[in-house]
Amino acid sequence: MRILALETSCDDTACAIVEDGRRVLASVVKSQDSVHAPFGGVIPELAARNHIQWVNPCVAETLATAKLELSEIDAFAATLGPGLVGSLLVGAGTAKALSFLTGRPFIGVNHLTAHICSNFLESDLEPPFLCLLVSGGHTQLVKVNTLDDIEIVGQTLDDAVGEAYDKVARLLDAGFPGGPAVDKLAQQGNPNAYSLPIAVTKHPYDFSFSGLKTAVMRLIEREAAACAEDSSALTLMKANVAASFQATVVRTLFLKTQRLMKESGLQTLSIAGGVSANTALRAVFQEWVDASPGIRLFVPNLGYCTDNAAMVASSAFFNPITHDARTEVFSRKLVI
Ligand code: KG4
Ligand code: ZN
Repeated sequence: MRILALETSCDDTACAIVEDGRRVLASVVKSQDSVHAPFGGVIPELAARNHIQWVNPCVAETLATAKLELSEIDAFAATLGPGLVGSLLVGAGTAKALSFLTGRPFIGVNHLTAHICSNFLESDLEPPFLCLLVSGGHTQLVKVNTLDDIEIVGQTLDDAVGEAYDKVARLLDAGFPGGPAVDKLAQQGNPNAYSLPIAVTKHPYDFSFSGLKTAVMRLIEREAAACAEDSSALTLMKANVAASFQATVVRTLFLKTQRLMKESGLQTLSIAGGVSANTALRAVFQEWVDASPGIRLFVPNLGYCTDNAAMVASSAFFNPITHDARTEVFSRKLVI
């Protein structure tokens, strides 16, 4: 079954065709980074307008890459939420129009479930598994017992990890998008240069990153004043802050995930969401898994970590809830 999916929940216009939920025939992502970079963050109205401009060329390029015609697509899917409403409407409207045009079903997909499904792409992952979901809007530890039984065991009480990265990037003037910029800067710094706090939460598997963000802000204010006259000291200080911040984030995520893996008895772990592209995060988990016989780790290929449509197509194929929705939409169409 070939599903063509659209993902327009934030600022990337993405289209993909995936066969049987795992085999990616084409995946195209049109980044809007250059549109939003001057503002240091995503401007929702600009994101929606750019989606309108890019969505049709993106679909055409995806079909051409897969060497397929619209008539060879079995179903259409799009992210319905969570996300920016104006942006979501563009992808959902386009996929529904294609569905009407071809008479093939439309499948609505949840963005977080899609991130979880990014690990099904080009892999043999099967539930049950634990997923550490780390994106710009969410930070969750979820037990995927089956695809219609996903249990949130812990989540952030304030900022998401990606959000903390983006804020720290702004404080360090590191560039946009913030996560990859801090990741790169951190590679030039000393992760032990500064000691930063790991938040203690009432529930052991919840997270909190707002205190860390404030600690980084105070640290930069103090250190920037100390090296205001010396530009090379300032550059080194920024790299050290980035590395120390990253080490603290990765340690927090690692300790909680490792504890839950042990407590749950699960042997399979996956990491998903934009922050799963982070170099230090991938390295720390890989090192642990290499030293832990029996544990399997799944991380998406770099192209499927941040927002993409291949994961949406995979979710549309696998998720029993969306399968029900598909049947419902299909039968409604017959009535029309
Ligand atoms: O999953 P995603 O593309 O969008 C959401 O669903 O939110 O995640 C985007 C987030 C952003 O906050 C971005 O800064 C972060 O993922 N990110 C990273 C890296 N690449 C993207 N954070 C840390 N290190 C990275 N290499
Ligand atoms: Zn996302």
